[in-house]
Amino acid sequence: MGGKIIIAGIGPGSVEYISPAARAAIDNAKILVGGRRALSQFAVDGQKTFAITADIAAAVDFIRANLDAADVVVPVSGDPGYYSMLDVLRREFAPEIIEVIPSISAIQLAFARAKMPWHDATLLSFHGRCPSDEELFYEPRRVLGLLTDGTFNSQSIAQLLMERGWSPTTRLIICSRLSYEDEEIIRTTLGDSARSEAIKHCVLIVGGGDDD
Ligand SMILES: C[S@@+](CC[C@H](N)C(=O)[O-])C[C@H]1O[C@@H](n2cnc3c(N)ncnc32)[C@H](O)[C@@H]1O
Repeated sequence: MGGKIIIAGIGPGSVEYISPAARAAIDNAKILVGGRRALSQFAVDGQKTFAITADIAAAVDFIRANLDAADVVVPVSGDPGYYSMLDVLRREFAPEIIEVIPSISAIQLAFARAKMPWHDATLLSFHGRCPSDEELFYEPRRVLGLLTDGTFNSQSIAQLLMERGWSPTTRLIICSRLSYEDEEIIRTTLGDSARSEAIKHCVLIVGGGDDD
């Protein structure tokens, strides 16, 4: 295997939030292995592409089979260091052949939209998983930054947190479609969100209000 695997973040959506280094790696790639959004946004004629689906093993096999030919560039949403294919690829390939190029994470952009620092926030993911009760405990002034998915969404997570001791009046900021033209930032509470229509695949910022 002569090539490198370059895992390049593409930001949360709009090209404004992809780092120039990641964009250059993707534009110069001969082989591109990514999700359908990434491929439709960035792939150009002449690049060999492979679409990542739920069959992650197939993507790993494709990368292994093509590494001799050239570097393989893997565009991933947001930042590679925060819940991406990097995890899988680190288990499958030696670190010496892996390069990681950061971009803006959806979490970073959500806190920026909320105009809040995130150095004291607890960052957790409900994307395809549910954090443990020990991670979800309530404490005054605690701030959570949460990734979500279809099942764990603005409604079900609000309900789940209240069942774990968070007050219905706790501030909740729902950040959806970040960086896209139809981006929406909704300031609400856990109680109201649990009674409202579910918003899926968003970032939730819990707490940080004056009374939280
Ligand atoms: C598998 S995680 C990938 C996170 C990514 N590595 C990052 O740094 O943003 C996917 C989740 O990120 C969040 N996400 C990604 N893009 C988003 C966007 N444009 N607006 C809101 N949330 C987004 C959603 O919670 C989504 O379900």
